[in-house]
Amino acid sequence: MNMQFDKTILVTGGAGFIGSHLVHRLVQQYPAYKIVNLDNLTYAGNLENIKDIEHYPNYAFERADITNHDQIYALFEQYKFDSVIHLAAESHVDRSISDPLIFIKTNVLGTATLLDAARRFWKGDYEGKLFYHVSTDEVYGSLGNEGFFLEDTPYDPRSPYSASKASSDHLVRAYHHTYKLPVVISNCSNNYGPYQFPEKLLPLFINNIRNNKALPVYGEGINVRDWLYVEDHAAAIDLIFHKGKMGDTYNIGGHNEWRNIDLIRELCRQMDEKLGREVGTSEKLISFVRDRAGHDMRYAIDATKLKEELGWEPSLQFREGLSKTIDWYLSNQEWLDNVTSGAYQKYYEQQYAVA
Ligand code: NAD
Ligand code: TYD
Repeated sequence: MNMQFDKTILVTGGAGFIGSHLVHRLVQQYPAYKIVNLDNLTYAGNLENIKDIEHYPNYAFERADITNHDQIYALFEQYKFDSVIHLAAESHVDRSISDPLIFIKTNVLGTATLLDAARRFWKGDYEGKLFYHVSTDEVYGSLGNEGFFLEDTPYDPRSPYSASKASSDHLVRAYHHTYKLPVVISNCSNNYGPYQFPEKLLPLFINNIRNNKALPVYGEGINVRDWLYVEDHAAAIDLIFHKGKMGDTYNIGGHNEWRNIDLIRELCRQMDEKLGREVGTSEKLISFVRDRAGHDMRYAIDATKLKEELGWEPSLQFREGLSKTIDWYLSNQEWLDNVTSGAYQKYYEQQYAVA
């Protein structure tokens, strides 16, 4: 243990969407913890997301690749981490369909590399140690109209992204069973909020509405997602990190299911109001395009365990969270313009040219 701090926590992927919210929260709420943010700044990682906490004395940033064992082990030796909260991943389903192997490398090999560095560095002395793996509800597959994902729902991943996350979850459990590595896993539903890369539905559509561009709705727009405000996810991770039962899994979700088309119509309505446009203007941008290959129909989380065991509940109503989110993107146009220049343009042309 680092004598200056109560804990030294390695957070991976802290320059990404959810990771940056978590890093903000931990750095500001726990001055007695040293937070080391490890990220190799792929297209999805952005130091702008964490600029305002760079100067905190309990914060450090390390640019490193989670698939590089030597780099990772050297950082364990340097900082003597007692905890890991692992979020770094390739995270976009569409990209996993066009380029699956990088998902296998980052999400499977990267997680294995971190697990093995922790195992070798902690050497069986697990007092005060924890490896927290942040995962997705997509590992459970796709639901019909009825039912919810529970912690013991059998895994049935169906995209290269969800299969790579499922593999990483299995590895985490295998390290727990084989080496007794102290682990905890959470599987969360779709997040939304500030700092999300605009390849994902909500920031993409907010940006397109702002620029009067078409809104490419896959298939008939009838797929259902369960949306959670990103800060509620960060709060759940904080709680599970401190109070979760070793070796356990917790589902995190918003009890907030929306068909894509209904969500998009609500977004259009709020944006017309905020932009002072005539009601119905943004809806005219909706354009139904070819469906995503293997598009999962419905995700819905039952988060009863987290509520009953640890007392967590989402704090924000969805319409309020959506309004806050739109306001953030509209008042951070420079952030959006920066991340949508360069390589993003090429991605966008490729992804939507054939759609
Ligand atoms: P994101 O794509 O916004 O961020 C991922 C971060 O990981 C980026 O900063 C990127 O630079 C970094 N990274 C990628 N490859 C790396 C590597 N090889 N080495 C080091 N860093 C690397 O993703 P997100 O939406 O913030 O998701 C974070 C985690 O939460 C992921 O594990 C994802 O599977 C999980 N999750 C996401 C959602 C969601 O709705 N976004 C829901 C549930 C779970
Ligand atoms: P996304 O934000 O990519 O998250 P995930 O695929 O992990 O759930 O997509 C959310 C939903 O929106 C999903 O059903 C796919 C759909 N979608 C579109 O209809 N058009 C788009 O351009 C995108 C990116 C997503």
